[in-house]
Amino acid sequence: MARQFLVRCSVVGALLLTLVAPSPADEAIKKSAAQALVTADRILVIAHRGDSKVAPENTLPAFQSAVDVGSDLVELDYVHTKDGVPLVIHDDTLDRTTNARQIFGGEKIPVASKTLQELAPLDAGEWFGKNFRGTRLPTLDQSLDVIQRGSVTLIERKKGDAKTCYELLRSKDLLDEVVVQAFDWDFLADFHQLAPHVALGALGHDELTDAKIAAVKRTGATVVGWQQDQLDQAGVNKLHDAGYRVWAWTVDNLGRADELADMGVNGIITNIPKQVKALDLAYEKKAAAVAE
Ligand code: G3P
Ligand code: CA
Repeated sequence: MARQFLVRCSVVGALLLTLVAPSPADEAIKKSAAQALVTADRILVIAHRGDSKVAPENTLPAFQSAVDVGSDLVELDYVHTKDGVPLVIHDDTLDRTTNARQIFGGEKIPVASKTLQELAPLDAGEWFGKNFRGTRLPTLDQSLDVIQRGSVTLIERKKGDAKTCYELLRSKDLLDEVVVQAFDWDFLADFHQLAPHVALGALGHDELTDAKIAAVKRTGATVVGWQQDQLDQAGVNKLHDAGYRVWAWTVDNLGRADELADMGVNGIITNIPKQVKALDLAYEKKAAAVAE
């Protein structure tokens, strides 16, 4: 009797599961918030290292300003500290954007030679302007908290393994809410293995060859981010034909931003997000002009 009851329960349970649980096909079709943004039918304005002409690059004030001007995404770079913490900074040495020489002595001081605690007192703002004195190097964790309140983080990994970034995003429940990019396509392939649904960007520079376009496939990227002055209409078309979104970096000339929009580029990575936003770039504009 008890056995019959258990069998009945498991049959009912299985039926309910098939009704409620999404099939693998549904899962593949369902887009994450970040994938939906990346594939939206409009030109995205992406603040490079935050609003980096207004506040020191890759710091919380730069991120807050980028959010405030309405950037679709806010880009940042990170490097691992000696104790393996993803720290937001562009260079793998501390000299250019902090007072590390003054504090530690010597020069070309690698980020990876110091622990997070040792790096905590560094000033990452005064080099940019006196009113930013006391600005600290933010961790990736802290930066995500600021940016995700009003925009979407475009995380560029400079140094560090895929698992650490993946675990941080998973612990913060942000895997579906951010885009991860890198020049290192092995890193992207590793990340894609860990989390196939996460929106990835494959970065590249110099000539955009057919071989490079073919090689993007193994990264699982949705976006290809290319050096803006190496992009032309043929290259953009080839990337689109191969199924990728195209983002151009780094575009601070408004005329060039307009040209790239006319080529059909899907995202403009810029140090001047407010000005690029004011251009109100749109694909339809060109189509409308042609129709007139
Ligand atoms: O977003 C792409 C762009 O940031 C790559 O160049 O050197 O500024 O990180 P870099
Ligand atoms: Ca970058």
